[in-house]
Amino acid sequence: MRKLSVKPFTGEEKLPDFGCDEEDKEFIDFLTEDAVEFQKQKMSKIYLFNGDEGYVGYCAISTDSVKSKMLSNKMISRKRFTIPALKIGRLFVGKHHRGKGYGTEIIAWCITKAYELSKLTGCRLVIVDAAKRKVDWYKKRGFELVPDMGHEKQDNHKMFFDLDILNKH
Ligand SMILES: CC(C)(COP(=O)(O)OP(=O)(O)OC[C@H]1O[C@@H](n2cnc3c(N)ncnc32)[C@H](O)[C@@H]1OP(=O)(O)O)[C@@H](O)C(=O)NCCC(=O)NCCS
Repeated sequence: MRKLSVKPFTGEEKLPDFGCDEEDKEFIDFLTEDAVEFQKQKMSKIYLFNGDEGYVGYCAISTDSVKSKMLSNKMISRKRFTIPALKIGRLFVGKHHRGKGYGTEIIAWCITKAYELSKLTGCRLVIVDAAKRKVDWYKKRGFELVPDMGHEKQDNHKMFFDLDILNKH
């Protein structure tokens, strides 16, 4: 059952103290310093998520694409194409609100939005550049690593969720 409501970010909201560790500070900095401009420039669309406790987190989404040769041939056979995608640029749940399923619910919301988008325009994947420490978290939620990215050398790992799965259920 859904516990969160969604509100498009305007920059006029009174944001709470989400609570964050040093390693997550960039997520707060983005929201308080860059988000308004990103949105104004149409580089990203930001959504705030509201629980019983008030705002608990946000996501920033945009469109992107992945070269099909980077993915397994089984999935999409024509090698030369770029595959359209919805990109989760940022996903954040405040420290005080973690472990309650909110992050999972926000991901499900993003996947639903991508599926809706796929009825309007080409959109096959949901993609994310996952921090190394979050790869397993995304895997548990149906995401796969994009192969051949030289992952071991990178801090972030590109991952994808194939919307085609939803047609098979
Ligand atoms: C990643 C993130 C969005 C997850 O949000 P969340 O609301 O805690 O997610 P969920 O509650 O759906 O899942 C949390 C998992 O941690 C476990 N958990 C339990 N107690 C927890 C707690 N106090 N704090 C965090 N996680 C806890 C949950 O059981 C769950 O485990 P599972 O993966 O085995 O199912 C959140 O940790 C976050 O914002 N981190 C900082 C920003 C970040 O790294 N974003 C991702 C960028 S790639």
